[in-house]
Amino acid sequence: MAEFSLPANSRVNKDGRVFKAAANARNSRVFKIYRFDPDDTANPRLDSYEIDMDDCGPMVLDALIKIKNEIDPTLTFRRSCREGICGSCAMNIDGRNGLACVSACADVKGAVKIYPLPHMPVIKDLVPDLTHFYAQYASVKPWLQTRTPAPLAGERLQSKDDQAKVDGPSTCILCACCSTSCPSYWWNSERYLGPAALLAAYRWIVDSRDDATGERLDYLEDPFRLYRCHTIMNCTEACPKDLNPAKAIGQIKQMLAERQH
Ligand code: SF4
Ligand code: SF4
Ligand code: FES
Repeated sequence: MAEFSLPANSRVNKDGRVFKAAANARNSRVFKIYRFDPDDTANPRLDSYEIDMDDCGPMVLDALIKIKNEIDPTLTFRRSCREGICGSCAMNIDGRNGLACVSACADVKGAVKIYPLPHMPVIKDLVPDLTHFYAQYASVKPWLQTRTPAPLAGERLQSKDDQAKVDGPSTCILCACCSTSCPSYWWNSERYLGPAALLAAYRWIVDSRDDATGERLDYLEDPFRLYRCHTIMNCTEACPKDLNPAKAIGQIKQMLAERQH
């Protein structure tokens, strides 16, 4: 159900703990980071960490790792590949969703404010609970479905043009930056699949080797699963891989309209 204001116990205390840089720091920068501990009854808070950028890598993830290693080991966040491939370091940086490992601190003016991805339950600090997001992804059956026997020798082939249709959407890293920037998803995430899952659905609908196109479209022909998208375009704006889920959603709607004639 849509909630238009934060419940009292979710309001963020802006005056959290403050960690000053060392006295000899020459290029200090403040990072204000959302902190939430599920074992603590206190409201979430913003902690301030001042670090010397002359002794830190250039990316927001470098700063987070430095804070965790050298200042506050309780700070919790996800990361793995450190090069924009795994999608696990997605968070809200300076008001925009993005990947911490490819977001430069120098691109942010003033204090660097870091929150978890918006409108998701928070497990701890910058770690959102993506269980429902992944379940929605699984619901579109993101795998090849065939009704015909595989060729005796070799693979199921497709033309270069057909391959080109799936090249783009196949590079989605499931970071959730798009879905968590979508107002329709904020208000209706229980029933609206959101741009990430719909882009995955599109990727299999347009795959020339897949035989389940009709069933895939049937699943999406629903007032909530697909049609809660109102073409606001936040998703495409947010995608760190330069994908265009809004366009894919529009094309699914067009396919559904065309099959009615
Ligand atoms: S285009 Fe659709 S999916 Fe993308 S942000 Fe807008 S409503 Fe959400
Ligand atoms: S479409 Fe882009 S923003 Fe959305 S999950 Fe995939 S990579 Fe992330
Ligand atoms: S750590 Fe893998 S995308 Fe950032």
